Amino acid sequence: MHSSPVIDIQGLRYCYPDGTVALDGVDFQLQAGETVALLGANGSGKTTFVLHLNGLIAGEGTIQICGMDLTPANLAAVRREVGLVFQDSDEQLFMPSVLEDVAFGPVNQGLSATQAELQAIAALRQVGMEHAAGKAPYHLSAGEKRRVAIAGVLAMNPSILVLDEPTTFLDPPGQRELVALLKGLPQGKIIVTHDIPFAQALASRALFFAHGKIAAEGSVSEIVERFGWYSV
Ligand SMILES: Nc1ncnc2c1ncn2[C@@H]1O[C@H](COP(=O)(O)OP(=O)(O)O)[C@@H](O)[C@H]1O
Ligand SMILES: [Mg+2]
Repeated sequence: MHSSPVIDIQGLRYCYPDGTVALDGVDFQLQAGETVALLGANGSGKTTFVLHLNGLIAGEGTIQICGMDLTPANLAAVRREVGLVFQDSDEQLFMPSVLEDVAFGPVNQGLSATQAELQAIAALRQVGMEHAAGKAPYHLSAGEKRRVAIAGVLAMNPSILVLDEPTTFLDPPGQRELVALLKGLPQGKIIVTHDIPFAQALASRALFFAHGKIAAEGSVSEIVERFGWYSV
């Protein structure tokens, strides 16, 4: 009952250089192993929020990850704990082979090539993509790319996974496979999505972003009802 949250954020505010206030006072906690869905309109600040979680951008307020203050001195340690999977896997996959792509993070953390490769293979096995280790990432389907991008963060053994609109570009079977994959991963998860069935399948709690603030919190169903957040 008294375990401290793996993410603890107080009063986060972020203004882009052009003056756009993208986050305007966000308080947020994630408990270990918990899955939270971030819902809300385009432009409400969800991506800006998740970019803070491993220090890609830095606003005002305090961010604690696994008990560490997110400061320049702790940046590398924080990035080991938070695996961020971008909306467009093509932004994340850039090496000549799948294996090199997934090993890139561990190599960057200073592991030997052999150890990095071992971790990469283990991560590819976790996402069911071990067979594609030698393939070029750009030859993969959208669903396979997403799996490899997830393997790329799992290879660093993070304690938190953050996925920004992960069902984009996935066909319905690909979406179901992603649900099954994520359900089997023990990490705490933050999932930004417009895909309500996907959020329902995974998240025990939803937050609704509006104009850079968390406007409401509840179950996915409660949020969907309250904001009329269904498609067609
Ligand atoms: N690089 C940027 N420069 C200026 N404004 C930006 C930039 N990126 C996002 N914004 C603005 O910040 C706000 C929040 O955007 P974003 O975090 O991408 O929202 P969401 O992910 O919820 O769609 C929007 O008003 C958006 O136009
Ligand atoms: Mg976004």
